[in-house]
Amino acid sequence: MARSSRISGYYNLPPAERRRIAADWAAMTPEQSVAVEQLLSAPGGLALEQADKMVENVVATYALPLGIATNFLIDGRDVLVPMVIEEPSVVAGASFAARLARAGGGFTTETTEPLMIGQMQVLDVPDVGSACEKIEAGKQRLLDLANSTDPVVVSLHGGARDVEVREIWDSPVGPMLAVHLIYDCRDAMGANMVNTACEALAPLVEELTGGRVNLRILSNLADRRLARASCVVPARELALEGKSGDLVAQRIVEAYALAAVDPYRAATHNKGVMNGVDAVVIATGNDWRAIEAGAHAYAARDGLYRSLSTWSYDPQGFEGEGALLGSVELPMAVGIVGGATRVHPLAKFGLQLMGVKTARELAGIIAAVGLAQNLAAIRALATDGIQKGHMALHARQIAIAAGATAAEVDAVSAVLVAERKIRQDRAAEVISEIRSKKY
Ligand code: MEV
Repeated sequence: MARSSRISGYYNLPPAERRRIAADWAAMTPEQSVAVEQLLSAPGGLALEQADKMVENVVATYALPLGIATNFLIDGRDVLVPMVIEEPSVVAGASFAARLARAGGGFTTETTEPLMIGQMQVLDVPDVGSACEKIEAGKQRLLDLANSTDPVVVSLHGGARDVEVREIWDSPVGPMLAVHLIYDCRDAMGANMVNTACEALAPLVEELTGGRVNLRILSNLADRRLARASCVVPARELALEGKSGDLVAQRIVEAYALAAVDPYRAATHNKGVMNGVDAVVIATGNDWRAIEAGAHAYAARDGLYRSLSTWSYDPQGFEGEGALLGSVELPMAVGIVGGATRVHPLAKFGLQLMGVKTARELAGIIAAVGLAQNLAAIRALATDGIQKGHMALHARQIAIAAGATAAEVDAVSAVLVAERKIRQDRAAEVISEIRSKKY
């Protein structure tokens, strides 16, 4: 049955009701729904025994909020998006921007094949020209050897695809070669399989080049594994009191323009993109440091660090009327098998909630959420400024930090916002005032 992620008022529901909706959405049967609700009710969703098997010297688990972004329509499919993040306004911002994009047909995504790059660093090469020729001539041997390290991924039509050589003439230790193994990781993030293959290839690379292999490790600049998302926002959806939608769209394009040319702004602009990206990457148990590293390296690929997204205004972009057109492109090395994706129960839930069947589908959704988050941020910046929306949520955090109970948080934060005194000392006073009236 078709269902809509446009769940009006989700924000105002109590967490238990939000959980019920999410559990029903994620589960295939009523029994599964009960199990998912139980999982979501347990703090942190990760038992200490499981955590103890994931990393070393475990003493506890460390919980973060898991929110669900609504309104996403991605490639014609309604999606509820799990987001793990400590920062206020991100889940709300993504949901809001998804609603704007929905009015123009939602997000469209595209992904490349899941190709990762593994690097072998070769030093002390006696004859670079002949080494390159021998690598080229020995390519099939290298590919066969790489494929022998993971018959499972090969049986799933993944595995080694190509070998390339890059000559590096100038480095702090002199010339070297970087031999790249291009490897199709299918639905895995692929770090383990690529690293294993590189380690297995090293002796043969040494034999072919006559050099010495030092590093054997994947590159996080996964520029063969890209995800793209785009959207068309009808300008009328952007209208604000006193400002036409077309004007707001143009202000957003101006905001983007600085990030297109200036690294100082681009860093912050891209941080907004990554607010959305990382939250979903973490929620699905993927390696967000890898995604961060890849995104920022990709943003600097032409020598100047720039915006990962683009925004333009088309006066006839939607049904003959003005529209804001957005797109984002970035490396997206995420998996749906391996690592924490299948170990952390909440990561499994996140994948189930989005109904993703392949790593590429997940990559496309993450790119769409990054674009949505970027739109929410630059729309706010180009209109009211970011603080107005932030303050209410910030006040809630301050109230909690000052000791407000769940029942007191709303009242305390309302006072802080009204008085424009979003400070912990004032929050503590307000909590005492509320309590003294009660008892
Ligand atoms: C804050 O986490 C993110 C923003 O700074 C992004 C931006 O400036 O575009 C609001």
